[in-house]
Formats: sequence, C-alpha cells, structure tokens
Amino acid sequence: MDSVVEDSFKREELHKEAFGKDFKWGVSTAAYQIEGAHQADGKGASIWDHFTGIKGKILNNHNGNNACDFYNRYHSDLNLMRELHIPNFRFSLSWSRILPQGVGQINYKGVDYYQRIIDHCLENNIEPWVTLYHWDLPLALEQKGGWANRDVVSWFEEYAQLCADKFGDRVRNWMVLNEPMVFVGAGYFLGKHAPGRRGIKSFLSATHHAALCQAAGGRILKASLPHAKVGTTFSCSHLEPYRDLERDKKATLRVDAILNRLFLEPALGLGYPFQEVKSLKRITDFFKAGDEDLLPFDFDFIGVQNYTREVVKYSLFTPFIQASLVPANKRKVVHTAMNWEVYPEAIYHMLHKFQAYPKVKKIIITENGAAFPDVLINGNVQDSQRLQYLQQYLKQILRAKQEGVKVDGYFVWTFTDNFEWAEGYNPRFGLVYVDFETQERYVKASGQWYSNFLKQ
Ligand code: GAL
Repeated sequence: MDSVVEDSFKREELHKEAFGKDFKWGVSTAAYQIEGAHQADGKGASIWDHFTGIKGKILNNHNGNNACDFYNRYHSDLNLMRELHIPNFRFSLSWSRILPQGVGQINYKGVDYYQRIIDHCLENNIEPWVTLYHWDLPLALEQKGGWANRDVVSWFEEYAQLCADKFGDRVRNWMVLNEPMVFVGAGYFLGKHAPGRRGIKSFLSATHHAALCQAAGGRILKASLPHAKVGTTFSCSHLEPYRDLERDKKATLRVDAILNRLFLEPALGLGYPFQEVKSLKRITDFFKAGDEDLLPFDFDFIGVQNYTREVVKYSLFTPFIQASLVPANKRKVVHTAMNWEVYPEAIYHMLHKFQAYPKVKKIIITENGAAFPDVLINGNVQDSQRLQYLQQYLKQILRAKQEGVKVDGYFVWTFTDNFEWAEGYNPRFGLVYVDFETQERYVKASGQWYSNFLKQ
C-alpha cells in the first residue's frame, strides 16, 4: 500500500462496516462527460454536442466529442472498476444515442451499446444504476423548444418507456433526472450550460416541465418495472447567511427555496415554494388543469448530491431573487478547483434537511467528490486533498446515519477524470487520472484508498 493511503487509514479510522452491510458503495458518471463517440453508430446530436461547438461557451473551447472514449473503452474501464472492488456503477443513457431525433425512429446500435454495458457490469458483479437524463437533450427536441415546450412531457414519456422496455429486465435501480435545478438554472436561466438560454420565462416553463417529467418518468418506470427501485437526484448546498442581518437571512431562505426545494417539494406533494420567492408564482402561467396532481411521485429513494456550503448575501440588483452567493475564494476558505468550499458538515446538514420530510423514504448520496489540480509523476497521482475530502465527508455521512438518517449509499463523483461541462477538461474529479492525449488511465492515491476501503 502506498504511504499516503496507509497514513490516511491510520489517521481517519474509517470503517466500512460502520455503515452497515446493505450500504451501497459506488461511483457516478454521465454519458456526455465520458462516452465521446459523439457521432458513432447512428447517434443523433444533443444540445451539448451543439453548445460545445459554439466558440467561447466552454473553457478553452473544449468539447465532449472524444471525452474518455468510454464508448470504445467501457470493457477495460469496467474491468478496472471490478479490480478496484467498486460494486455499483451509476451512469446515464444518452437519449439521442437511443432516439436520434428524440422521438420516433429507434437507433438499435445505441440500444445495443447500453445492453453490452449492462451485461458487462453484471458479468463482473457490478450493479448498474441508470439515470435516464443527465442533461444531454436531443438537439432535434431543443429545436422544437426543448424543456420550455410542454410537449417535452410526452417526448420524455416515450423515451422513458423505451428505456424501461429495453433495459428493465436487468437494471434494478433507476434515477429519472440528474439535478434538474442545475440543467434548468444553468441551461435556461443563466445561459452557461446547453442550450444557453436566458431569462425568467424559459426558466419557469422549463422548471415546470422538468418537474412534470420527473414524476411522469417515475410513474412509467414503476408501472413497467414494479420490482425496480426508482429514484431521482437533486443538487443541494448547505446555506448560511453572510452576516447576522435580517436581509441576509431572508435572502438565504429565498436561495434555499430555489437551490434546495424547487424540485423536491413538488415531487413530495408540497407544491412549489412560492412563499419565499413571490416571483415564482408566475410558474402557474404554465399550468394546465390537473397539474397539481401530476407533480407528485412516491420515489423509493432520493439521490442527494452535495459538494459544498454556500454563503448568501442580500443583493438588490440581482433580479428575481435579490440574493447572491459569496464565492469561497473571497471568503478565504479552503476550496477546490471549482472554487467550492471544502465543508464536510454541509453533507451532514443536507442529510438531516432531507430526512426531515416525512415522505422521503430513503436517501442515497448519488454524487460527492472534489476537483483538485492533480499532477501525474511517474504514473502516480498523490491526491491527498481529494482523499481527505472524501474521508471527511464520509465521516459526516456516518455521523448522520448514526443519528438515524436513512442514508443507504454513497457514490463518488467520479470514476475517471472527464469533461466537466462549462469548465472543459480542466477540473479533474476522478479517482482515476486520465491522460486525454493517450487515453491512459492511472489510479490516483484516492482511488487506491477507496479500493482498499471497499475491500475491508
Ligand atoms: C454535478 C453534476 C455532474 C458533475 C458534478 C461536478 O452537478 O451532476 O455531472 O459535473 O456536478 O461538478
């Protein structure tokens, strides 16, 4: 065992058994971030294929055309996963690989590719956890209005049904959406992610339609696969006011409503959090009769994805929400390459927050991890900061679990370094280092640690 890994074992005394024998351990990925092969075997274009082609949208004009070439290397990557004793693999399906136009004509080569991945997982005793949608909408659908068009509900239902029919015999764990708040917020309000749209109207309509799809997808999966575990995932941040001022505290409540509650509460039958953010009321412009009854779905589990804490300040000039986040570097706190504060208690607080909703049955941490500037020296990456980050966050998860929170799994974001959206290939989140020139993989010290931990 290498010395960084060995030391950290002694220092942290983290034992897998303490989490219980049914706790699910894994790694998480997403199609666009790893697959590459963006035009292979009949795949249609997605909004990310298009967006990354527009100059200036992505740092260094990077794109996911090749990414980690997982499309061609899934065999060896999954073998490496098995060698590292990782028993659960979360990945997403690329909608436009399966339905190139989003609806209608099926691309059987795309279906076959996911069949092979699932089979290879099962042959290696790796349990597949499938996300239906991790941000890569078929471009053909965006051209018809994308998430801002109500028809997305029926497009998504067609896609969800097809996935249930094709993969449901072997996939037991499903997640409908990945972080709707992020793809709607960054994609339809801030314009920083695909499809690059801005403004309150596209944000509110896309929000409502995504919330309807979240529940509709859940209903389809459950009706077709009654024995499957059906969940969906949420991004969330622990929030604190910047100053002990009434206006900062109120701003924090508004940000909480948008960042942490906007998609969860309708799913739980609580509706949208209008109380805190009055302008959110305009979302009802996009309602049709009976929509209140279509928003809830009784998920088997909730996927919690937490990385950090955010500090909130009142800001008169920020439209819609009158609040802004104080960046970690400005606060002079320890932070990752994403400028996200390293704040392990954040995950502990979020677990308690989610647990407090009586209708949340079970929580799985479907993403947590950190990007640091890794350096490859003689085939080794001594990423002690990531290693510590993972251990500290895990300790907080254990603390919550021991206090009775029903948290039953943990998936590291992510397996290999990959395409990090607007930030391109700069931030490295992987347990495994990727040399993007040669596509060579090198297990980092953190990966070695996770592997030894899982072997315990
Ligand atoms: C999540 C997202 C992932 C990954 C991660 C790290 O928001 O689901 O795709 O990018 O953040 O930034």
